[in-house]
Amino acid sequence: MVEIVRPGLFTEIWGYNGMFPGPTIRARKGHPAVVRFHNDLYVETSVHNHGGHTPQESDGFPDAFILPGLYKDYIYPNIAPGDTLVEQESEFASTQWYHDHAMDITGENVYRGLAGFYLLTDDLEEDLIANGKLPDYKDYDKFGQPFDIPVTVQDKLFSRRGSMIYDTFDHDGFLGDVYVINGKAQPYLNVQRAKYRFRLLNASNARFYELRLTSGSFLQVGNDSWLLGEVVHRNTVSIAPAERADVVIDFRSASGVVYLENILEQDDGRGPDDDRRIPGTPLLKFIVNSGPAINNAPGCVPGAALRPHVAIREDEIVRTREFEFDREHGAWVINDRFFDPDRDDADPQVGDAERWILEGGGGWAHPIHIHLEAQQVQRYDGRLPPLYDSFKKDTVQLRDDQEEIEIFIKFRTFPGRYVFHCHNLEHEDMRMMGVFHVQGDPFQCL
Ligand code: C2O
Ligand code: CU
Repeated sequence: MVEIVRPGLFTEIWGYNGMFPGPTIRARKGHPAVVRFHNDLYVETSVHNHGGHTPQESDGFPDAFILPGLYKDYIYPNIAPGDTLVEQESEFASTQWYHDHAMDITGENVYRGLAGFYLLTDDLEEDLIANGKLPDYKDYDKFGQPFDIPVTVQDKLFSRRGSMIYDTFDHDGFLGDVYVINGKAQPYLNVQRAKYRFRLLNASNARFYELRLTSGSFLQVGNDSWLLGEVVHRNTVSIAPAERADVVIDFRSASGVVYLENILEQDDGRGPDDDRRIPGTPLLKFIVNSGPAINNAPGCVPGAALRPHVAIREDEIVRTREFEFDREHGAWVINDRFFDPDRDDADPQVGDAERWILEGGGGWAHPIHIHLEAQQVQRYDGRLPPLYDSFKKDTVQLRDDQEEIEIFIKFRTFPGRYVFHCHNLEHEDMRMMGVFHVQGDPFQCL
């Protein structure tokens, strides 16, 4: 039982280690981790490390259940795909999150609390921190908070007695009316006049957000799992379910109170309205301390170089696949078919680079997530994506007004069966999911 809505009102959650959100796991490149998950719930679970480059046995396939009362060890090698060192440096992730992925019941399991952060570093990111381009997670402010804070954004519905309400019959996408940030409704955070890094994660089932600050703007340093090529100035950042925005907020010239707010309106699982509303709904209140400003991370300025990107080139593409995301009989299909965990929907070879055309429409928005490898966004409806939305993504927004997304994806290391799906969790549970089976010899050269 935890206090989410207000002090003294207790809510039962399902949490990793009983925590909501789950404990933040930190890992370092080249240091493999084994995480043992015990299932003490009465429902099945399966754990996916979202954004991870993980062997299929540990990727949380939807029917690779951990049955109630049992446990499973997940092996995270903490490596990046790629044949060359530059490629492996380009593809190494920073901000992953782990969450439940059990077939048909992921929506309820995640909603009740089964989500946490999995953060990674490597020499490159440590150098960026040492050279003052990123705030240091090993440094603490005078309130005892690190200068690098993961932030989970969710929306929930509560009964008057504080229990979480979930509607298993809502197949359009479940929305709540209370915003819950790192497990607290209406939270505040004391901050110093300094730069802080926030890993903003949309862990909601179906709600899209466009985030804004009531004063100031963001310095975006990463998108989904990966650091960007350079620091980008943003007035707002948009995150669909499962997407992350890795941002730095500079509070040095701020004073008083600054709110992180959501300016998108959304009334159903169809997706958000087109108009933005300012002022928006406050999610998190920053109380800026009046003490002297600290000039930490002085090199975190627009244009500062972060992680180099090795692009997938057009001439590497060996085939094109098309996937149409649609609604049929009140449920959700890809290319007219419901998810079947035993059927392969695509069979790329290890080493292949492919063009995938993701088609949507019909007035519904779908955040499309592909496991195992990053999606290099080539075009949204024929248009080039902005810098911060191209290159590496692990989830892309197939919005109702953006009916076609063209991506490049390269299957570099692990053979095996992986899924791709809509990350509106109710759509996912109602079978908007497919399997790609990477063909290759699992044995490696000694
Ligand atoms: Cu975030 Cu297949 O999941
Ligand atoms: Cu969807």
